[in-house]
Amino acid sequence: MERVLRALAVACVAAAPMLLPATAAAQFDKPEDAVKYRQSVLTVMSNHFGRIAPVVRGQQPYDAAQVRADVAIVSMMSKLPWSAFAPGTESKGARPAVWSDNAKFKQASERLEGDVAKLVAAAETGDLAQVRAAYGAVGASCKACHDNFRNR
Ligand code: HEC
Repeated sequence: MERVLRALAVACVAAAPMLLPATAAAQFDKPEDAVKYRQSVLTVMSNHFGRIAPVVRGQQPYDAAQVRADVAIVSMMSKLPWSAFAPGTESKGARPAVWSDNAKFKQASERLEGDVAKLVAAAETGDLAQVRAAYGAVGASCKACHDNFRNR
């Protein structure tokens, strides 16, 4: 019995890659759905990132638990938009360079994810000075990508 189960488990693991969608675009029925998805994620990320701004500027008291909660949302959201920039999902908001210079775009998204990971770590310390420094780095990552890849 155990041997049969083990054989089944091996077969399932072997079959798993075949069940994955062929391309990231397969997650969406229509190109507009991919655009809506990534814009929605970016909007939510931006909203929670923005809530921390008055805290790092000293205009609002530092509530470490609240900052951690907002940073957790930024962190989750920062991983989601990129696969929705699949070929054939051009939009007014995104410059053609997203697709023509995709390696650089990918690099910019990885830079953001790296900087957000540092912000998560800073928020864990509960030290406002560390949060402030890491927050600034994330903001610079947003801007660096927007300067090259976002239309306004
Ligand atoms: C790797 C590149 C990249 C990074 C990093 C990035 N963005 Fe963007 N952002 C884009 C692109 C491209 C668009 C346009 C998307 C579209 O309209 O299809 C966009 C659009 C947006 C929008 C508009 C969404 C809408 O409703 O149209 C907001 C808000 C935004 N970004 C905020 C941020 C914030 C805040 C950060 C950093 C925490 C960030 N972005 C980091 C590339 C990036």
